[in-house]
Amino acid sequence: MASSVMLAALMITGVVGLIRAERVNKSGSGGVVWSTAEEEGDLVVRKGGDADGSTAVLEELDGGFSSLDGMLQWAIGHSDPTKLKETAENVQQLSSENLKQRQLEIKELMESLKMPSDAQLMQIAIDDLKNSSLLLEEHLRALQELLILVEPIDNANDLHKVGGLSVVIRALDNPDSEMRMTSAWIIGKASQNNPIVQKQVLELGGLPRLMKMVKSSFKQEAAKALYAISALVRNNVDGQELFYAEAGDLMLQDILSNSTNDITLRRKCVFLVADLAESQLETRNKGEQPFFSNPLFLKSVVDLTASTDLDLQEKALVAIKNLLQLRTTEVQVLKHFCDLDGALEKMREQLQQLILEGDRRDYAMDMESLRREVKLIYHGKLEKVTQVPT
Ligand SMILES: *[C@@H]1O[C@H](CO)[C@@H](O)[C@H](O)[C@H]1NC(C)=O
Ligand SMILES: *[C@@H]1O[C@H](CO)[C@@H](O)[C@H](O)[C@H]1NC(C)=O
Ligand SMILES: *[C@@H]1O[C@H](CO)[C@@H](O)[C@H](O)[C@H]1NC(C)=O
Repeated sequence: MASSVMLAALMITGVVGLIRAERVNKSGSGGVVWSTAEEEGDLVVRKGGDADGSTAVLEELDGGFSSLDGMLQWAIGHSDPTKLKETAENVQQLSSENLKQRQLEIKELMESLKMPSDAQLMQIAIDDLKNSSLLLEEHLRALQELLILVEPIDNANDLHKVGGLSVVIRALDNPDSEMRMTSAWIIGKASQNNPIVQKQVLELGGLPRLMKMVKSSFKQEAAKALYAISALVRNNVDGQELFYAEAGDLMLQDILSNSTNDITLRRKCVFLVADLAESQLETRNKGEQPFFSNPLFLKSVVDLTASTDLDLQEKALVAIKNLLQLRTTEVQVLKHFCDLDGALEKMREQLQQLILEGDRRDYAMDMESLRREVKLIYHGKLEKVTQVPT
């Protein structure tokens, strides 16, 4: 972290004319040594490693900044305001020729440092991943770097271009669970709200592998895999079709109906159900998935409202609300087979209790209004069905 910060601080002070390029001391074995005469103690960073310093910068990226912008923002935020003001005034005093000269110096400095671009950093990480003579921990570190690097959408879009997606998808089959988990995480992050990456991952066959991973006994792996699946199918008709073709419906039902499953996994699962049902509402004309009207499935969703986990209950309510609005959902099944009335009533009692106790009152009140909304939709649908035609 330190050297990125120093670098950013140096760049800012550089812009305002405090920096002298000749003070950058590249000593052969000790790595890059930063120093300014004005602020000796404070602007010195020593970092071992490559002579060109690129490894040093890379290491600092772990958990640090994913882009130059980020570093600058951070450095500005952590700078002494009076010094910033002072230096801003200095800039104003510089003639444009002078300013150009400074910019040139900084540019040369950056080049001499070989400050790697995000694309280069991704390439390094990918090369490391592909290098089978490296140790597991080095592969893991490469994945963790990619996890940070794919956050900006431009980087996510470049990942496949530089050969990264195939490597990461291949790592879903790695014998090490940590490797698999981090790979799933990267895929989820890169494809979230990103139709380009979604399409690439789907074409590279990522989805079926992730679906297998959801069955992992390693909780984090299963959760990250489900996260990636949700990111892949969200607002993506092709992804959803593939998901159903790969028996995604059974996968969902297995997770929901098995209360020994990890709570995080079940929350993610019911959230995905709500999301998929919503998509069905939007693409109604293409026909609804028969699975959504499966009584066993509906019951497993309704039963979640009896969970002791409020968050899970809330997500279940949202799912029920969306499912109720599907044409194919049989309200009689919800009434007789799932006992939705009983479930909603139990929930009402529990929420009343929470509201009275004042514990998480606002949350409980929000949930109560959602519960009422669900009840209204449900009764509206019941009335339509039981109306005697005149
Ligand atoms: C560069 O740094 C090395 C070791 O830190 C020092 O011995 C040397 O004098 C420095 N050179 C210059 C030009 O400042
Ligand atoms: C793989 O890593 C080893 C050890 O760091 C390195 O010597 C070798 O050049 C790398 N191979 C490739 C193809 O990058
Ligand atoms: C329920 O889940 C647990 C672990 O999550 C698993 O071991 C068990 O086989 C599952 N039970 C059924 C009936 O699928």
